[in-house]
Amino acid sequence: MILDGRDPASVAAAAQALRAGELVGLPTETVYGLGADAASDTAVAKVFAAKGRPSDHPLIVHVADASGVEHFAREVPAFAQKLMLAFWPGPLTLILPRRPEVGAAAAGGQGSIGLRCPAHPVAHALLLAARELGVHGVAAPSANQFGRVSPTTAAHVRGEFGEGLLILDGGPCDVGIESTIIDCTRGAPVLLRPGRITREQVQAACGLRLLDKEDVASPAPRASGTLEAHYAPNAKLRLMDDRALQTALDVLGKDFDGATIAVYARSLLRVPSAKVLYRRMPDDAGAAAQQLFAVLRDFDAQGVNLIWVETPPGAPDWEGVNDRLQRAAAS
Ligand code: TXA
Ligand code: MG
Repeated sequence: MILDGRDPASVAAAAQALRAGELVGLPTETVYGLGADAASDTAVAKVFAAKGRPSDHPLIVHVADASGVEHFAREVPAFAQKLMLAFWPGPLTLILPRRPEVGAAAAGGQGSIGLRCPAHPVAHALLLAARELGVHGVAAPSANQFGRVSPTTAAHVRGEFGEGLLILDGGPCDVGIESTIIDCTRGAPVLLRPGRITREQVQAACGLRLLDKEDVASPAPRASGTLEAHYAPNAKLRLMDDRALQTALDVLGKDFDGATIAVYARSLLRVPSAKVLYRRMPDDAGAAAQQLFAVLRDFDAQGVNLIWVETPPGAPDWEGVNDRLQRAAAS
């Protein structure tokens, strides 16, 4: 059931549902989440079951403001404080040492916990209302079945989980790809997942060089956001540069009548056959991210078999989009 997230009565009902150990679909500025009371291991177990997600894959816990961190984190390194000051509320998740007595199920059994303070007004209103009822954090992975494309509208969430789920509608998500994740448990910041907030922005805000996963000795925990094949549409996705894409299209020829192919490209291409769906990718990285998952879902809904995507630029602001496309292509 989709409720208007701007209606305080809907927000109150959703907060009550969280308090009662039920699941709620909630908008954030990145993607929609499937939320549960982070302190309740039984509520969190429902999230893993609904998503079909292995229960050792940690979830992100959402807090109303930075003061919520102390309920879950044992300590906050100085550089993590700087990142919170610079980017919260916003699309940044920090992995911090966990208080052993809370959130074990949400953390997938890790000694650490992922925390994020979202900027979306509906998410913020829900987190405040839930806190009034004693729910200090909402564990919310992206509201999609395990391995599938994250949802960026309330209708996408209903498509994943059906009418039985209470979903707050907050409109289409602004950012469109999941939050940037920084591991703050290793003495220096480590980038676990790129997003709208770029590595340059992170480094400028905390004054430290950002390490990559490959730079640190012990491997990060199993985490679906970092699996090589993830975020996949049903159709087979291939990345090609503009010339390879044009060559592939030319080979099809005008009488092409095979599989349904969609092309998603920044370049202007000659499309030989009306059987090929052609959609332009925005030139701006933020705009491309905002629509990426909705476009992939739309191609799936149109019964497309193959999605040919022009490889985006290698520039830093495209890192999040490139990361999601590479994972989708690896499936
Ligand atoms: O934008 C987002 O981050 C969205 C919205 C709903 O907030 N959430 C999201 O959650 O993408 P999810 O569950 O799909 O991705 C969570 C990822 C995990 O796959 C893992 O990579 C990382 O967060 N993570 C969470 N807790 C962690 C921990 N304790 N240690 C290492 N990684 C963790
Ligand atoms: Mg996800």
